[in-house]
Amino acid sequence: MVHEASPVESPWKICEEHRIDEDVGFALPNPLEELPHPFDAWISIAKNLTALIENGELRAEVEKLPMFSIDDLQGHKSQRLAHLVLGYITMAYVWDRGDGDVRKVLPSNIAVPYCKLSEKLGLPPILVYADCVLANWKKKDPSGPMTYENMDILFSFPGGDCSKGFFLVSLLVEIAAASAIKVIPTIFNAVQHQEQDTLKKALSDITSCLKKALEVFHQIHEYVDPNLFFNVLRIYLSGWKGNPQLPEGLLYEGVWDTPKKFAGGSAAQSSIFQCFDVLLGVQQSAGEASAAEFLQEMRTYMPPAHQNFLLSLESGPSVREFVLSKGDTSLQATYNECVNAMVSLRSYHLQIVTKYIVIPAHQQSKKNQTSQEPSDQENKGTGGTDLMRFLKSVRGTTEKALLKEG
Ligand code: HEM
Repeated sequence: MVHEASPVESPWKICEEHRIDEDVGFALPNPLEELPHPFDAWISIAKNLTALIENGELRAEVEKLPMFSIDDLQGHKSQRLAHLVLGYITMAYVWDRGDGDVRKVLPSNIAVPYCKLSEKLGLPPILVYADCVLANWKKKDPSGPMTYENMDILFSFPGGDCSKGFFLVSLLVEIAAASAIKVIPTIFNAVQHQEQDTLKKALSDITSCLKKALEVFHQIHEYVDPNLFFNVLRIYLSGWKGNPQLPEGLLYEGVWDTPKKFAGGSAAQSSIFQCFDVLLGVQQSAGEASAAEFLQEMRTYMPPAHQNFLLSLESGPSVREFVLSKGDTSLQATYNECVNAMVSLRSYHLQIVTKYIVIPAHQQSKKNQTSQEPSDQENKGTGGTDLMRFLKSVRGTTEKALLKEG
């Protein structure tokens, strides 16, 4: 007899309110590019960001903007576009040419609407991954494929094509892994109904999606130049939390009386890796305390719908416990392949971080020794070491989830 799931059992579903798209996963499907008047004034600054910075006009242009009320800005896609452009404008206003001339106060004409909008969206008032990667893309030919060649970003930072490369490759990794999200309900239902063969098949499907994501990751070498990434783009993505250039944080004029600290934009704010950690029972919270705290903190930089999705996964049945309890060698091997696909992604990511941060940081530090700027050198050197420790710890925790076969 075929077992029919009764409504009482309410099989686990990916609900619309999780804002996960069938094709692009956590990315925003077909983001808007334009905002209605008067918000188009924000768009035109964000579109001309690089030229305005180069001509030394950016800050004056921002200060000239009237204060707009975001009450008239209706609809999720318009609000996400506004959060994206205000994020770009804020980063550019604070860091400007990236030469150390930093602003510690964000004027109220930007700060007030930005903070109100952020509150509405449940996002922090700083450029996040959900802005610059998930909502910052378009297809050149709308009927064409989702490939690097047929895609573009909506807004750029100085540093040539570096921001395009970094944001689009991150998005494409995200989208490649997104096909695996669809499989999650099958996994949970299979566990609930003790269907080992269905579970095995579903785990293999997830493994192949993660392997495809790894292949897509390779494109980073083609499209992102390490020196431009390290010396230019990284500056514009920097936040004001634990940043010696803004030790107190940023003062959002007209919103709060004291400066606030927010972390900079990072793919660590992507939900995709955390999603499969939870599904596979990789217990990042049992790893190094600081790494676990950081990953948990990064969740607060994700759209609330995605944070809730991760929470709902946590309350689903444990795939790992089920696999363990069955004692079936072939099922364990299939589970391990899936965990190993996550380990491989993280190992590859470590190589990327070495190429794009650790090596340029060493080069910088050597250069600074001759030009005698020890404080800068010290700061970047330390950052580099900590990053590697954090990322290796996260990979180590992933490896610990592997089941001993036999
Ligand atoms: C030039 C390319 C990249 C560099 C230099 C880079 C750098 C970093 C760094 C330094 C961290 C540590 C946290 C932080 O300080 O932000 C991090 C974390 C992370 N990055 Fe990347 N990243 C790159 C590309 C990507 C891509 C394409 C993805 C996937 C979409 C990704 C996903 C992650 C994740 C998920 C974390 C959190 C740690 C983990 O779960 O393993 N990164 N990255």
